[in-house]
Amino acid sequence: MVFGLSHLTPRRIIIFTSASLLFWIFVFSLTPITSPLPPYTGPHEVGILDVETEVQKRVVHGAILKETGEKAFELETLAITLYYPSSLPLASPRSRPWARPWLPQPISLIGTGYARLAGISFKPLQSVFTFGLWLLGSSTVIPGVVDAPLLTGAEKILEGGAGAGGLGKILGAAEQEHMELKRSKELGTLPCVVFTHGMAGMSQSYSHYLGSIASYGYVVAAVEHRDGSGPGTIVHYLDGKEKKVWHMKLRDFETTPPMTDLDLKEAQLNFREAEIVETIKLFAQLNEGEAPVVNLKPDSPREALPGFKGRLNLSAVTVAGHSYGATGAMQALKFAGTKEMPINAGIALDPGKGSGPLNKDIDVPVLVMQSGEWTEKQVEFYGQGKHFDVVRKIIDSVKEGWFMTLTGSAHPSCTDAPLIVPWIMKMVTGTTLDPKVALREYIDTSVRFLEYLQTGEKKGVLASEVTSKAGPLGEAEKRKKVKGEYGAEWEVHVVPRE
Ligand SMILES: *[C@@H]1O[C@H](CO)[C@@H](O)[C@H](O)[C@H]1NC(C)=O
Repeated sequence: MVFGLSHLTPRRIIIFTSASLLFWIFVFSLTPITSPLPPYTGPHEVGILDVETEVQKRVVHGAILKETGEKAFELETLAITLYYPSSLPLASPRSRPWARPWLPQPISLIGTGYARLAGISFKPLQSVFTFGLWLLGSSTVIPGVVDAPLLTGAEKILEGGAGAGGLGKILGAAEQEHMELKRSKELGTLPCVVFTHGMAGMSQSYSHYLGSIASYGYVVAAVEHRDGSGPGTIVHYLDGKEKKVWHMKLRDFETTPPMTDLDLKEAQLNFREAEIVETIKLFAQLNEGEAPVVNLKPDSPREALPGFKGRLNLSAVTVAGHSYGATGAMQALKFAGTKEMPINAGIALDPGKGSGPLNKDIDVPVLVMQSGEWTEKQVEFYGQGKHFDVVRKIIDSVKEGWFMTLTGSAHPSCTDAPLIVPWIMKMVTGTTLDPKVALREYIDTSVRFLEYLQTGEKKGVLASEVTSKAGPLGEAEKRKKVKGEYGAEWEVHVVPRE
């Protein structure tokens, strides 16, 4: 309660006490309006850590913001949320630990951000957005343990080496290094995933999907993009200063000639790509464990970070994204295998329909999963044909590519929203599939794909044949389906060529 009411101005009081709002509070107070996020689906407890670090400064695009006169696309720091498997024992469902509030703090930043996104600059009305968010989101917490120790993989080996600490003192530096190398080999290394969010999304919006992938033994970094696509984010500097980055629209820029929509998309996608590159660099830095990573996020601990030394498999970094982020992930695949972008594969959830043309130049494994809604509603895609057909052709040309649709799901089905406010989501998107089942299917298929990258074995839906080549563009009776592991139905459009 205290939160939303702490900065009251007379204007806000008028808004807050308006009769209709009181009525809705009354209605909402009678029904449980939000549901808690369910536990992650994998076998490990999940550690969560917000990390922000300084990066090599660079201007990705020269556009200037009218409001501040500052450069809109200057990369200064990288902000990510890490989800990783932890060595802590899995808590019982009743004493489930929670990492932090689901809504980024302060809520007013996000509320104002969404209001600005909706084109509202009138302050009291912006406060209504904050209030609405607070009403729907403030009781939701992200399960997990902040700053938990990273999964050690082989606790027994560690116990057996309990005397090694004492022994280490009398060993030379070289021998100690050798011991450490041996230790990391014994412990095994963990594959990594970089995740990039959709338009108007936030890195927190996918906590169940990403935390669940982490609970199967993957280190996941969800990027908080500062490209002006989200509602709002704060850049923190080493000297304690900060800068707010709001959602950006074409009319917010001062450029001659004026920016076009495609220019903006290109600038944002390039900015996102730079952030993906920096995330992979951060993985390498954590793995080296030499220079300590300075965490600029206020109040964010960093006890766990030294434990990442020698524990990441940098040959197994996969990039994943949703919507705008899926377009970005596919773009990043163009440079897969280069020094800057040493990624081994990509996962694209609902690749954008208006996020710019899709990269066609891919020669690493890729998995495209679309929601039923995304597949059913077809649009012309940048003069290249129907979106579905464009995606199908791209994936068909990739040696190891999968393209499939989860029937009965909608565009936001992979986000946390349908878990937190199932009734709103059902009303707005008309999904027929249980949101928990939809998420399990997405998680499961993603993990099967990540396992495939390690073992070469195709399991679950990945083992299926093509069931519906032409999808919504073909004849209805040729659209066959295959059952997923949780009973949902998938339409498989493309599988790897033998
Ligand atoms: C790291 O990942 C690569 C690629 O998936 C795999 O071939 C290799 O065995 C992994 N290394 C370790 C130490 O797990």
